[in-house]
Amino acid sequence: MGSTAGRLTGKTALVTGAAGGIGAATAELFARESARVVVADIDKDSAAATADRIRDDGGIAVPFAADVSDEDQVASLIEFTVDTFGGVDVLQNYASNRSAVPKDVFVADADLSVWLAQLSVDLLGCVLTSKHALPHMLTAGAGAITNSSSLAGWLSLGSRPAYAAAKAGVIGFSKTLATEYGKQGIRCNVIAPGHITTPATEAMYDEQQTQVMLDHVSAPRLGRPDDVALAALFLASPESAFINGHVLVVDGGMSAYAPMLPSLRRLADER
Ligand SMILES: NC(=O)c1ccc[n+]([C@@H]2O[C@H](COP(=O)([O-])OP(=O)(O)OC[C@H]3O[C@@H](n4cnc5c(N)ncnc54)[C@H](O)[C@@H]3O)[C@@H](O)[C@H]2O)c1
Repeated sequence: MGSTAGRLTGKTALVTGAAGGIGAATAELFARESARVVVADIDKDSAAATADRIRDDGGIAVPFAADVSDEDQVASLIEFTVDTFGGVDVLQNYASNRSAVPKDVFVADADLSVWLAQLSVDLLGCVLTSKHALPHMLTAGAGAITNSSSLAGWLSLGSRPAYAAAKAGVIGFSKTLATEYGKQGIRCNVIAPGHITTPATEAMYDEQQTQVMLDHVSAPRLGRPDDVALAALFLASPESAFINGHVLVVDGGMSAYAPMLPSLRRLADER
C-alpha cells in the first residue's frame, strides 16, 4: 500500500457513488488510511471493480449495489454495513444522477421527472443514508457524515436548475443535521468541488469547454479526484473533530474572484 496510513484505523466508512470518479478515489484513499470500506453504487460491476482494486492493494473493502433514492435499498445497505463491519463511523455521500443532466435544461423546458430524478439521488440520497446510519452513530456516540455539494449549489451555471437546487439543498440539509446531532458527537460537513476531471466531466465537456474551466481556475491545473478525496479524508478523520456544519470548497480558487476578472485580464493582454 502506498500511504503511511492509519488516519482511519478502526473505522468503517460507507462511500456512496464509489464506482468511479471522486467516489472511487475516496474509497481507495480511505482504505489506504486503514478504514474498512463499503463501496456502494447503483453500478454493481464498477463498484465491485473498485472494491477489487482496494483489496488488491491490501485494503479491506466490500461492494454493495444500492440505489440511494430507494429507502428499502438504503436500509439494506446500512444493515449490510453494520452486519459486515459492526457499525458505520463515516458516511461519505457522492451518489449523483448524471443521467438526468442532459435533460436538466432551462426551467420552462425541464420535465418534472427530471427534477425528481436529480433531487431523489443527489439530495434525498443524502437524507436517506443519513437517516438510516444515524441510529448506529448515535449508539456509538460518534459519526462523521460528509455530503457532496458543488459550486453549482450557489453559483449559477446558466442551466441545470435541478442539479443546482439539489446541491444547494445538500448544504441546508447538512447544516441542519450538524446542529441537530452535534451535541451527540455526530458531525456533518459538505464538500463542494469545482471542476474536477473525472469520467463524468470528461463526457460532459469538450476540449474547448475544458480549456475554459482551466482559464477560470486560480491554480496551474484542473482538479483531480484525489484533491477531493484528501479533503474528504480530513473531514472524516479525527483531525477535523471540531469542524461541523462546514462547507469545504475544493475548486482551485474558481469561486474566489469577481466574475469580471477573466475579461479584464483579456483586455489587459490585448493592450
Ligand atoms: N467532477 C466534478 O467536477 C464535480 C463538481 C462538483 C460536484 N461534483 C459532485 O461530486 C460527486 C462525484 O462526482 P463524479 O464526477 O465522480 O461523478 P460520477 O458521476 O462519476 O459519480 C456519481 C456516482 O453515483 C452513482 N449513482 C448514480 N445514481 C445512483 C443511485 N441512484 N444510487 C447510487 N449510486 C448512484 C453513479 O453510478 C456514479 O458512480 C457527485 O455528487 C458530483 O455531483 C463533482
